Amino acid sequence: MVRKEWEEKGFVDEPVESGLDLKVEIRKLCRQKNAVIMAHYYTNGEIQELADFVGDSLALAQKAAKTTADIIVMCGVHFMGETAKILCPEKKVLIPDANASCSLAESCPTTEFSRFLKEHPGYTVISYVNTTAATKAMTDVVVTSGNARQIVESFPKDEKIIFGPDRNLGRYINTITGRNMLLWDGACHVHEQFSVEKIKALKAAHPQAKVLVHPECKEEVAGLADVVGSTAVLLKYAVNHEEKEFIVVTESGILHEMRKSCPDKTFIPAPPESDACACNECKDMKMVTLEKLYNTLKYEWPEVKVDAGIAEKAVRPIHRMLEISEKLGL
Ligand code: 13P
Ligand code: SF4
Repeated sequence: MVRKEWEEKGFVDEPVESGLDLKVEIRKLCRQKNAVIMAHYYTNGEIQELADFVGDSLALAQKAAKTTADIIVMCGVHFMGETAKILCPEKKVLIPDANASCSLAESCPTTEFSRFLKEHPGYTVISYVNTTAATKAMTDVVVTSGNARQIVESFPKDEKIIFGPDRNLGRYINTITGRNMLLWDGACHVHEQFSVEKIKALKAAHPQAKVLVHPECKEEVAGLADVVGSTAVLLKYAVNHEEKEFIVVTESGILHEMRKSCPDKTFIPAPPESDACACNECKDMKMVTLEKLYNTLKYEWPEVKVDAGIAEKAVRPIHRMLEISEKLGL
């Protein structure tokens, strides 16, 4: 029975019994309920440690599409839960805190995006996975930062393409592919915070360090990169590259897996512009805590729901992305 105060708060606000080992109890609930925990690299380290699977947004979608579990607990932001629900409508998809949204997805309101598409007929619409289900329903093919380049390149050179919502990722893909996609003017407030001056100062202090940058960062920041890529691409580069020091210009949650995978290497988080905030942290990703995860599994709430009409339209561009990615071995 869902309580009114939970609904008001967007998560199960129940104190957990004292003396419980939450990590043990969470795993026990997963076994009892045939539930799988999936977590994004930006979540808190203890959540990543408990998860059955940790990945970037492409890998999470791929994994969700194939899971045999009855319940998927998506430790990440809301659009990740929606993507899993759209791919697995018969499964129960839970998210520990329904307030965990994404500034980038929010920078593309459905009505405005729909008007923009009507103003530009004849375009193929490519949307980043960081969008609401309603935006995906207006899309021809979804991409993630892990496959955007290859999917854009799978279209003929002269294809007229609208790319949304991230202007930084779109501009970066235009640059590396020589395309001229029309860009929606959205952005991620975390990735837009990184400071060119502070990264340059770090570079001066660590001249051997390689600079790893997520493509959601601004052009001037991407210009300082040794490699630009999705969280999984940056991780792979750090693992495979012989260099011992890396300046990491993306949400700081990825440092957990980087340090775990490469204990002999040094990872330096790039600071944001302002010293007054922890703006290189995505506050929404950090909303997932052990207590909320435990309560979510115990009470099977909050559940991610997607309107059936929207899901029917949104599933096609997601499947198209997964098919192209599989064909390309991504
Ligand atoms: P990835 O596609 O690299 O997982 O990034 C998702 C995201 O939210 C970046 O801010
Ligand atoms: Fe969205 Fe930015 Fe958070 Fe990624 S880091 S989930 S794009 S707000």
